[in-house]
Amino acid sequence: MFIVSTPKLVIAQCTSGIVGSFPALNARPASLLDEWLHEITEALAAWGREHPERPSAPFAVNQIVHRSNDRFEQDMAVCAKWRVPIVITSLGARVELNEAVHSWGGITLHDVIDDRFARKAVEKGADGVIAVAAGAGGHAGRWSPFALLQEIRGWFDGPLILSGAIANGGAVLAAQAAGADLAYVGSPFIATEEANAPEAYKQAIVDSGAADIIYSDLFTGVHGNYLRSSIVNAGLDPDDLAAGSLDTMKFGSDGTAKSKAWRDVWGSGQGIGVIDRVQPTLEFVDLLADQYAAARARLSA
Ligand SMILES: Cc1cc2nc3c(=O)[nH]c(=O)nc-3n(C[C@H](O)[C@H](O)[C@H](O)COP(=O)(O)O)c2cc1C
Repeated sequence: MFIVSTPKLVIAQCTSGIVGSFPALNARPASLLDEWLHEITEALAAWGREHPERPSAPFAVNQIVHRSNDRFEQDMAVCAKWRVPIVITSLGARVELNEAVHSWGGITLHDVIDDRFARKAVEKGADGVIAVAAGAGGHAGRWSPFALLQEIRGWFDGPLILSGAIANGGAVLAAQAAGADLAYVGSPFIATEEANAPEAYKQAIVDSGAADIIYSDLFTGVHGNYLRSSIVNAGLDPDDLAAGSLDTMKFGSDGTAKSKAWRDVWGSGQGIGVIDRVQPTLEFVDLLADQYAAARARLSA
């Protein structure tokens, strides 16, 4: 997640047994990406040596494949150097990127919000598809997860991951039942001790529920889900965003408005109603596992 995910959170996620990821653009300046990949690679290798019975999961780097990302080539070269095991691509599919990742033995997963984009991504060589459904944090789709999964599963039998408002172990099982191989969880990790988010943001995730999420394209030009309270704090009326613009936001609309939008207007999906405290990542992952097992047991009883 933009701004929120740094090596600390990624290492905690991977050593808890799930794939942790971060956007390359979170490493600022660009030269920091090399240090971050070094840190993560070393930490996971050390973990593997010390806990052979409980190996870490691989990590992923998210690349924004869009003309506006002028670091793309440089960041890909650093990912090649560290042979990043999983590259998640958003906002654009490119054949060369998929080939490059395959050349070092990695895999690519592409973010999509509908079936048309899923087909394009697979045509261009993505190994798997992340279906970002309605209710997801950050740049969210509009489709029901059921519609999205069944359309993509209709023709694609590769790795399919469901994203959007998944915040408990039962929902992970539901994603699998509906056709996904894996579940993708974002916003709940904002309320972890390892997340790079201000305490007030973490607390807002704890205090809020689905009714507190606003879907708008005002902040970045692409539709996404945001916490109502942070929109109010930025000086806008969440119920009348059509009347607002970045110029009317308290922080103005200078060249860094986009980063500021994410820093001050806080992204979140609709699933956070069950997040009732800020906790260590490991505790939350263990909770997901317990809930998943309980949901399975309930279904087979
Ligand atoms: C604050 C925030 C920042 C995000 N930043 C990115 C990003 O930089 N790149 C990306 O591909 N997805 C980003 N996402 C989307 C997540 O990868 C994921 O699809 C989403 O959080 C899943 O929905 P959930 O938050 O309801 O679990 C972000 C989500 C949030 C909440």
